[in-house]
Amino acid sequence: MLTPTRSTSSSAPAGGDTDNGGRIPVFARRLGSWHLSLQRQPYDAANLVANYDLAAAGWHKIIDRLDYMPAYRALLKQALAHWPAARSSQHLRALDCGTGTGALSEALAGACAVPVEIDAVDISPVMLSKAGERLRKIGLNVALRQADVQRLPYANNSFDIVMAGHILEHLPDPVAALSEMVRVARPGGLVFACITRRTLPGLWIHFLWRTHMVSPADAENWLHRAALQDVTSVSPNCRGLFRQLSLACCGVKPDNQC
Ligand SMILES: C[S@@+](CC[C@H](N)C(=O)[O-])C[C@H]1O[C@@H](n2cnc3c(N)ncnc32)[C@H](O)[C@@H]1O
Repeated sequence: MLTPTRSTSSSAPAGGDTDNGGRIPVFARRLGSWHLSLQRQPYDAANLVANYDLAAAGWHKIIDRLDYMPAYRALLKQALAHWPAARSSQHLRALDCGTGTGALSEALAGACAVPVEIDAVDISPVMLSKAGERLRKIGLNVALRQADVQRLPYANNSFDIVMAGHILEHLPDPVAALSEMVRVARPGGLVFACITRRTLPGLWIHFLWRTHMVSPADAENWLHRAALQDVTSVSPNCRGLFRQLSLACCGVKPDNQC
């Protein structure tokens, strides 16, 4: 898009902006009176379902090959250490949004020092059936449900922990989805998000899956805009592709927000 404006020369960052009528900002720059911007239409829900249904059979092989499991566990341990309620709770209830084959649910069960009861949602029925098979095999009881993170079928304040692994960047309005996650978290609850990072290796994911290109500062900004407090980035302290491809941050739902 090429729009003449009245402002003088300046430039604007492309990533993380969600105020684009649902389009993904790829590039934005002001040159004198010219405002140049390039935006991309994200996949709609029907296309995402079709694409993830197709990807489901090989999904967990990718998770294993890229060492996502140890990285997810390490990130969740750090997020839990940052969250005081983790030390005082005897039992936790968690929601995994866009669970795929259940990697983040499994990682949370391994990272928590107390028993955790997990619900998980996904829009792809084939992903859900793969998650069911896999989680049953490893003896993990997760309540799976087909649902959209943008309209979660749970009451306000239902969960101690609400998390999302590599899903927000797919959505036309990630802040609205985060706000929906915040709605179902209890006051004082933890919201955790892992997101594809804006890096050179991350570019192929952005091109292939039409995702937002997000820096750690963009992600923290999303969490702040969803009214979370104590927002912080966490890093898995690992080498390799996960660190190149992903970032993670978490925040706490304010006590006075119901
Ligand atoms: C990149 S995969 C990540 C899966 C899993 N969280 C992981 O880390 O392996 C994204 C998942 O989000 C799901 N998804 C995409 N849009 C969604 C939406 N609006 N609501 C719920 N799930 C969604 C996809 O079907 C897919 O399983």
